[in-house]
This record gives sequence, C-alpha cells and structure tokens, in this order.
Amino acid sequence: MAYKFDELINRKNTRSYKWDQVGPLFGSADILPLWVADMDFPSPPAVQEALKKRVDIGAYGYAIRTDEYADSIMSWFGRRHGWSLQREWISDSPSVVTTLSLAVEQFTAPGDKVVIQTPVYYPFYDVVRDNGRELALNPLQIRDGRFEMDLAHLESLFKDGAKMILLCNPHNPGGRVWSREELAALGELCLRYGVIVVSDEIHCDLVYPDYEYTPFASLSPELADKTITCLAATKTFNLPGLHTSFMVISNRDMKARLDKRIKTLSIHMSHHFAQEAVIAAYTESEDWLDELLVYVKGNLDYALDYLAQQLPQVKPMKPEGTYLLWVDCRSLGLDKQGLKQLMYEKAKVAFNEGSTFGTEGEGWLRINLACPRFVLEQALKQFCEAAKGIS
Ligand SMILES: Cc1ncc(COP(=O)(O)O)c(C=O)c1O
Repeated sequence: MAYKFDELINRKNTRSYKWDQVGPLFGSADILPLWVADMDFPSPPAVQEALKKRVDIGAYGYAIRTDEYADSIMSWFGRRHGWSLQREWISDSPSVVTTLSLAVEQFTAPGDKVVIQTPVYYPFYDVVRDNGRELALNPLQIRDGRFEMDLAHLESLFKDGAKMILLCNPHNPGGRVWSREELAALGELCLRYGVIVVSDEIHCDLVYPDYEYTPFASLSPELADKTITCLAATKTFNLPGLHTSFMVISNRDMKARLDKRIKTLSIHMSHHFAQEAVIAAYTESEDWLDELLVYVKGNLDYALDYLAQQLPQVKPMKPEGTYLLWVDCRSLGLDKQGLKQLMYEKAKVAFNEGSTFGTEGEGWLRINLACPRFVLEQALKQFCEAAKGIS
C-alpha cells in the first residue's frame, strides 16, 4: 500500500470533536473514540499539499469560486459514478445538514409532514423539528439481515399528505446502498404523490465491492426535477472540518430559491481553504480512495470476524457502504443507560449509542471503522471483554 492507514495521527488536544469531547461528554479522556463519523487517517497527500500552499499565502482573504472547482466535481461524478452533471445544476452550501435544513424550510410550510426513514442520522430529526415541521416516520424493516424500505407504509404517509422525504443514500447507520430498483420504486411513489426528495448522498463514494451507488436524481429527468441532492467531498476524503458541500439541483426554480436563501443568510462566500482541498481530492486522490476502501474493508472483515468469535450474541448488520458498522446488542439485555455504562465506564470505548438514531436504535451501537486496524482491535477487545463480564 502506498498510503499509511496503519499509523495513528495524534489528534488529542487538537480541538478534535471526536477525540477531545470524550472527556466532557463520556466522563473520561482515555476513552477510545470510534464514534463521530470522521476518519483517523490523514487526508490524501495532494489535499495536504494544496492546503499548505494556501496557508503559505499568508493572507487569508475572501475567495472566489473558479470553473476548475465545478469541473472537478463534474469530472468526478462522471467518471466515478457515470452521472453526467451540468455546471448550472451545482451550487455550494456550507454543509450537507445546512442544505437539508434549508430545503425543509423553503419547500414545506410550518406544520407540514416530512418523511424520514428511521433509524437515521440524527440531524434528520432536528432539521424537521427545528423548522417547525412534523416528522412522519417510515421505520426501515430488517429483512434478511439488512434494512429495506417499507413502501406500503410510505405510500400511506404520502396519501396522508407528506410533502417531502429526506432520503439517506447510502444509509447511515445501516450501510445500505439502495439499489436502482429500490430507488425507482421509491421514485415512482414520489412522482405519484408529488413529493419532493432531498437526497443526502454524502456517503456515495464509500461503497464496498459488489455494490453500486445510484444517484437518485440520475434515475430520470422527471425525478431529478423533484430532487435536491446533497453532496460533499468531505466524508470521502476526511475534510469535514473544512465545512464545505454542494447541492445538485436541475430544477431551476428550486435551485434559484435555495441560492437566494443562502445569499440572504450570507453563507454564500467561498471558504478560503475549501476549494483547493476539493479540487485536489477529486482530481489527484482517486488512488488514495481506492486504497482506503480496501483498508476499511479489511477493518470491516476483521470486526465481523472478531465479533463472531468473541461475542457471537451481538449481531452486526453487514454494511454495503459507509465506514460505519451498526451492531445489534439487544441480546446483552441492557437499556441505553446500561450500554453507555458498558462502553464508557467498563470498556473505555465510545461507539455511538443507537437510540440517538431513533427509538428503533435502542440496544444497538454504531462503530466507526475508519481508524488504524490496531485501534479497532484494541477497541473491540476492550468492548468484548467488558461485555463478557456482564453476561
Ligand atoms: C448522512 C450524513 N449526512 C450528513 C453528514 C454531515 O455532513 P455535513 O458535515 O456536511 O453537514 C453526515 C456526517 O456524519 C452524515 O453521515
């Protein structure tokens, strides 16, 4: 391997949310953090070089957006995902969650129902509730050990007047990479009931072999016309602290409305550092991503094997994408407080406690696999030993 995924960067005392919040939040600074979804790997060398050059300018003034930036996005999605984007469909947004929230605000009215498919990344709840809209839950069903959408229930929510659905494609926390057929079936319902789709596709590049990401909006021009796709290079290349993302919207009116709102909030200016990083990621770091995916797959295989050997009563859901592992720990017989105690006090590890993703997540944990293997080994060892101590 050309890249050093086995070396741990010391992120302690770097204002790292993942590493430096474990003390304040979980009670002890020596807890191993495998929770927040960023990676412990260095970003690609080309990205680091580009950022260093930008630092060397010494003056950190207002920046403009260049064609090269949009070109790098269009070229990436064309060659990596076979999705042909037009320049005028792309706009920047400070973060994917910002886009989710603005889309809810702009395209629904107070009191409207917005569908989310639970368990799901917790800000999906916040952007609906905090905008004064109502959540319409379509819990995912577990079939053959993986999540599937309940289309019959979804249709009942649409019939009942839901105006929008927030889709997570690939899905966090279950790691489903929705198939073309599943997305087409969902799309058919959305068209039938005139439902707007806000599709969070931030995990799109993190897909395991044998699975393929399908951009929801690529299914048909009719669906694209009802869709706001939220994307970023930040999850793929470990840049989330740069706070940069983009939206793809082919519907001119919807795009104009979001652009205007972003301008009104004065969050439209280009970040001094972000563009260089995104360009270097999309144009010079594809081999890094390919190696990363091999490494993370190795971590996944290790974790699945280790848990099967050491703690067979817990059942991981085999992910098709994302670097996250969703693990059913209900057999341990612990409530959420008990699981927290087990993690933070006994095992000294921090995975995400499942109920933060919805009530269906109670008794589940989410493990972040994007760390050097030895860190994962240590965390799983500590967790399994502590869990055996209680059962
Ligand atoms: C599904 C999903 N959407 C959005 C985000 C965060 O994106 P941003 O930092 O651009 O708001 C995450 C981060 O974990 C995520 O998993």
